[in-house]
Amino acid sequence: MAFKKIGVVGCGLMGRGIAEVSAKSGYDVVVSEINKELLSKGMSAIDQSLARAVEKGKMSAADKDKVMGRIKGTIDMQDFSDCDLIVEAAIENLDLKKKIFADLDRICTPSAILSTNTSCLSVTDVAAVTRRSDKVLGCHFFNPVPVMQLLELVKTITTSQATLEAAIDWGKSLGKTIIIAPDRPGFIVNRAFLPYMVEAIEMYEQGVATREDIDTGVKLGLNHPMGPLTLADMVGLDTLLFIMDAIYAETKSPKFIAPVLLRKMVAAGHFGRKSGKGFYDYK
Ligand code: 3HC
Repeated sequence: MAFKKIGVVGCGLMGRGIAEVSAKSGYDVVVSEINKELLSKGMSAIDQSLARAVEKGKMSAADKDKVMGRIKGTIDMQDFSDCDLIVEAAIENLDLKKKIFADLDRICTPSAILSTNTSCLSVTDVAAVTRRSDKVLGCHFFNPVPVMQLLELVKTITTSQATLEAAIDWGKSLGKTIIIAPDRPGFIVNRAFLPYMVEAIEMYEQGVATREDIDTGVKLGLNHPMGPLTLADMVGLDTLLFIMDAIYAETKSPKFIAPVLLRKMVAAGHFGRKSGKGFYDYK
């Protein structure tokens, strides 16, 4: 099944990236937000991201207009009624996701595929509230979506092979490399990523090394694009803490116990880049 129209629930950091890469690949896109203010903020961010591509000579101004013309912003979920694939990228709250999936199941055509961009919650649990669990899967993108090569598709025990294959074709058409993960806490990438982040934050917390040396060590010693503390600030410390807690709650594995420092920083409102302060200062 070739998709024509993609729906994206949520125009935050991840949703707007998914909307942008889909429209750039020629799909019509509907992207929603909960109010006009957030929608306008998200749409402006897409416009700015495309404007940067024009400035860098990676895209013509005419193509930018065409891409923007393919994206319709909405605050009405009914606008997803004729989408072939919907990617939910709302905040990480299982009850909210269940509500969105129940609504989408009612609104969308029976053939539509529903997916979630969750990084840590159970895809099986959201699929269970629909009458089409064979047409539900996880589409886990990475931040920043336009740059990151990977798309991790999450297959539950009820996802059909046809659904998975349709999602693989779509992901490839976006230029992404696909991996298939089981619906287990952390899937593949976050299961490897989180213990590494726990260790880096604990090293800093215990005074083993300076934040700069931890970051430089990993960056140059392991050839990562950025060190773990810089990356934590980019992902968002609140997001990181939420993911650690969610994976720990399911696995009870000490590998995922959030460092006390991370919890205190989040309690203090130090969320990383987005709040202006995290392991580094951005003001
Ligand atoms: N949107 C679009 N393009 C962006 C961008 C954004 N938000 N941020 C950077 N770029 C582009 C730049 O335009 C530039 O393009 P060009 O090379 O064609 O000119 C290119 O990316 C490189 O950007 P910069 O030169 O500004 O900076 P860097 O070379 O330092 O790259 C980075 C920035 C791409 C963020 C890089 O440091 C990186 O890959 N960092 C690691 C990111 C990562 O690990 N992400 C995964 C997070 S975990 C996750 O998402 C899972 C979740 O479940 C927690």
